[in-house]
Amino acid sequence: MKIPPPPVHRGVRIAGTGSYVPEGLLTNDDLARMVDTSDEWIQQRTGIRRRHICDPTTEGTLVMSREALRRALDQAGLEASSLDMIIVATVTMEMTCPSTAARIAGELGATPAAAFDITAACCGFLYALNLADTLVRSGRADRVGIVGCDWMSSIIDYDDRSCSILFGDAAGAAVLEATDDPSKGCIHQTMHADGRGWPALYIPRRDRDLADGDTVEGIRLGCLRMNGREVYKFAVNQFQNSISGALEAAELTPDEVGSYICHQSNLRIIESAVEKLGLPREKVYVNIDEYGNSSAGSVGLCLDQMRTKGLIDESKPSLLVAFGGGMTWSSCVWNW
Ligand code: COA
Repeated sequence: MKIPPPPVHRGVRIAGTGSYVPEGLLTNDDLARMVDTSDEWIQQRTGIRRRHICDPTTEGTLVMSREALRRALDQAGLEASSLDMIIVATVTMEMTCPSTAARIAGELGATPAAAFDITAACCGFLYALNLADTLVRSGRADRVGIVGCDWMSSIIDYDDRSCSILFGDAAGAAVLEATDDPSKGCIHQTMHADGRGWPALYIPRRDRDLADGDTVEGIRLGCLRMNGREVYKFAVNQFQNSISGALEAAELTPDEVGSYICHQSNLRIIESAVEKLGLPREKVYVNIDEYGNSSAGSVGLCLDQMRTKGLIDESKPSLLVAFGGGMTWSSCVWNW
């Protein structure tokens, strides 16, 4: 019998990040021409001005994921063939078999890297980041490509004003690799779910998927259903609890964090955490006005934009946080 080697003590670094946002735009005024809503109402209640959406003839989850990861590899100066694993987080995979990850691995030349998709809705990128960090830290993988991507416009019923105003399409990616310093990488992480709350945010495929109280009439199967008020209550609480819990666990004050990289779901949810927890506003990145909520794409897109714009103070840890359908919530304190 071969005795397993002792645990590896090493850290993790982000070698590169990338993102992909479609050029197509959907403004609040465009939506006001489709349903009974207005630019003023949407901006006031959500902070969103417009969102980017795919051209369905040429773009989708596959293209966005592949290009985001390609850009992350380019930024890192690495070949796809050097990856041990690719994880794609999405709720809008174009096919369940093969996975999006396997297809982009094939297209980018990462074979025979392990490749699989995970589904944690808007927490997807953070779940992937936490998983990848753990695998690299343990020595099971040396270099992992992660992608968070959602093609939300493919699952939105544009007659449903409660959902259609919120979501946009995007992908964010990162390449994680081993480093000798064990203090680098994820120094605290949480991943949670409470499946009892699923009817607040779900995508019914068949009649039998419908939650109690939802009926076939007026519901488009294959499209997102959301109880906005329920999700809002859940989100405000979990968002704040996740941030305060992460600060406490990592023994950090709000000012000792260099940047807050938050899921973009509603500006009011972000602002309430800033106010309640006394977070330094200038360190909390916001891009929801331009992209809306891009689900699994959101946190990775923020991470890439912040790195590219030089907005991350790498002398201090960053705090990443998200919540989403499931219901799920997740956090990560990342030491650069
Ligand atoms: N345009 C105009 N009016 C709208 C509207 C729209 N797009 N959507 C709802 N309304 C109306 C409602 O019908 C309601 O009218 P009433 O008072 O006559 O009944 C009124 O506006 C208030 O609706 P309410 O649902 O209470 O609004 P809200 O302030 O909660 O904002 C959301 C709605 C969806 C923006 C908000 O609940 C939200 O952001 N929830 C969280 C969603 C989320 O984050 N989802 C993703 C999680 S990852």
